Amino acid sequence: MVEHNAAIGVIGGSGFYSWLAEEAAFTDVVTRDVTTPFGAPSAPLTEGVLDGRRIVFLPRHGVGHEFLPHTVPYRANLWAMRELGVRKILSASAVGGLRPDAGPGTVVIPDQMVDRTTSRAQTFFDRLPAGHSHGPIHVSFADPYCPAVRKTLTRHDDVRDGGTLVVIDGPRFSTRAESRWYAAQGWSVINMTGHPEAVLARELQICYANACLVTDLDAGVTEGEGVTASEVFAEFSRNLPAFAGLLLAAIRDLDPDADCACAAGDHDVDAVMRDIT
Ligand code: ADE
Repeated sequence: MVEHNAAIGVIGGSGFYSWLAEEAAFTDVVTRDVTTPFGAPSAPLTEGVLDGRRIVFLPRHGVGHEFLPHTVPYRANLWAMRELGVRKILSASAVGGLRPDAGPGTVVIPDQMVDRTTSRAQTFFDRLPAGHSHGPIHVSFADPYCPAVRKTLTRHDDVRDGGTLVVIDGPRFSTRAESRWYAAQGWSVINMTGHPEAVLARELQICYANACLVTDLDAGVTEGEGVTASEVFAEFSRNLPAFAGLLLAAIRDLDPDADCACAAGDHDVDAVMRDIT
């Protein structure tokens, strides 16, 4: 039984989806192959129903983790979500901590973001054909995350409400000097995927918030070897049940059809998408 028109999107790792699917007992599960003007998404999308809500899940890095952060097809991913009727997205990410008092296991719901990536396509609108139906499109991004979706995540006692996520290209981790500099700016957490995901959601007028699980303290915060990928993956797996439980509670809290300023940009998304197709 589906009570809502719009769907809720969840972007995370594939382990994340397996946990959710088992725990939440989705019904009517189907796999959707979506093609977009920006190529194929990271993987087929999985759609299921939970408490009358249609949920669309996408593993950001692909089913076999074949996409490194700088090669994730972000535009295809967001486009495919919108095509399937997604209007609110909960995104789950592993992040490094830049504050010693928020170590591994802490969940941060950032309210700001700093883009330190250099070469990622970050707009759909460089594909508008001649004669398209709109003027130039520059979305507002002063507040990169949807306040309503954030609220469903920050309701829980054991999360940090607010902070700045700095996004780097990767795939390497930061040097100690870079990391110390980010921390000195007052930024809270760091990862490699938070941009351009959030801005592409905004361009498609999809509400979006990012739940960030701290898997390590970044190189400038601690002495020692620096960050390793195995440490990040192991810590993520250790915290998966609690973290995915938080996302599940947020899904249940969210009204997929609620009106929101994120959907009130000054371009007509459906018309623009038709122009691009
Ligand atoms: N993802 C998880 N930990 C990270 C770190 N320390 N730097 C960048 N991305 C990360």
